[in-house]
Amino acid sequence: MAARRTALITGASRGIGRALAEALAGRGYDVALVARTASALEDVAASVEAAGRRAFVRPADVRDVDAIAAAVKDASAALEGLDVVVANAGVARGRWSGKLTYEDCADVIDVNVRGAVATLLAALPGMLERGRGTLVGISSVVAYRGVPKLAAYSGSKAFLSSFLDVLRVDLRKTPVRVVDVRPGYVATDLLEGRRPPGTVDAATAARRIVRGVERGAPIVTFPWHLAALMRLLRCMPPALYDRIAPRIA
Ligand SMILES: NC(=O)c1ccc[n+]([C@@H]2O[C@H](COP(=O)([O-])OP(=O)(O)OC[C@H]3O[C@@H](n4cnc5c(N)ncnc54)[C@H](OP(=O)(O)O)[C@@H]3O)[C@@H](O)[C@H]2O)c1
Repeated sequence: MAARRTALITGASRGIGRALAEALAGRGYDVALVARTASALEDVAASVEAAGRRAFVRPADVRDVDAIAAAVKDASAALEGLDVVVANAGVARGRWSGKLTYEDCADVIDVNVRGAVATLLAALPGMLERGRGTLVGISSVVAYRGVPKLAAYSGSKAFLSSFLDVLRVDLRKTPVRVVDVRPGYVATDLLEGRRPPGTVDAATAARRIVRGVERGAPIVTFPWHLAALMRLLRCMPPALYDRIAPRIA
């Protein structure tokens, strides 16, 4: 059995975060679970404990910087340090840009950008002090190129991936590793019932993420064909992208 390790996951109440908590528990991690819905977190905690691991539950909103700092501090004290911290909590609001409102964008920026930054930066000093740790951000393949009707979401993930890119470079001579996860479609509530071709289930996504984190991969992206398509689209000149993007989306 793998040695005891610890992890904190935001957005652990359902979807990818829940699957990650369960996959990490299966790999020998004690897990701190953060999201707003306390009852759902208790359910995930029961599943972690059924795997023989400890669970620390903290209902908190990642938009509240002080609450996230306290959650990271308390989880670290309870689990005796955090080896892996995953900024996973995220929201998506799809709308054609002609009808986009500030409110559509504000929540996406607050959760996906401010919440992720608050989580990662709350964990970093403890990792530097302990001499080990891995910061993980759950970005998206849309970080490669923004997709129609997802202006704020695409922008938030481009920010997160770029932020993680610089953290990785800046921290390369420290014991802290940085992993940028860019999934394609994962069957969770975020997709609101849509299941485009290539959609993977949350458990499969979690296994790939855990494998990448344990390998120390700088970027973890899947499925490979969607990631390859998005990389190709990134190189495409606007005149061509503008014509084909609506059809691809
Ligand atoms: N599903 C996909 O196809 C896909 C693809 C690429 C990337 N991603 C990314 O993967 C991450 C997880 O998404 P998912 O698909 O698992 O979505 P999901 O099933 O909707 O889960 C979102 C999670 O985020 C939490 N959350 C939302 N707002 C929060 C807030 N203000 N404070 C704390 N927690 C909050 C939710 O918990 P509460 O509501 O209980 O707070 C929930 O646990 C996101 O960053 C998303 O952008 C998803």
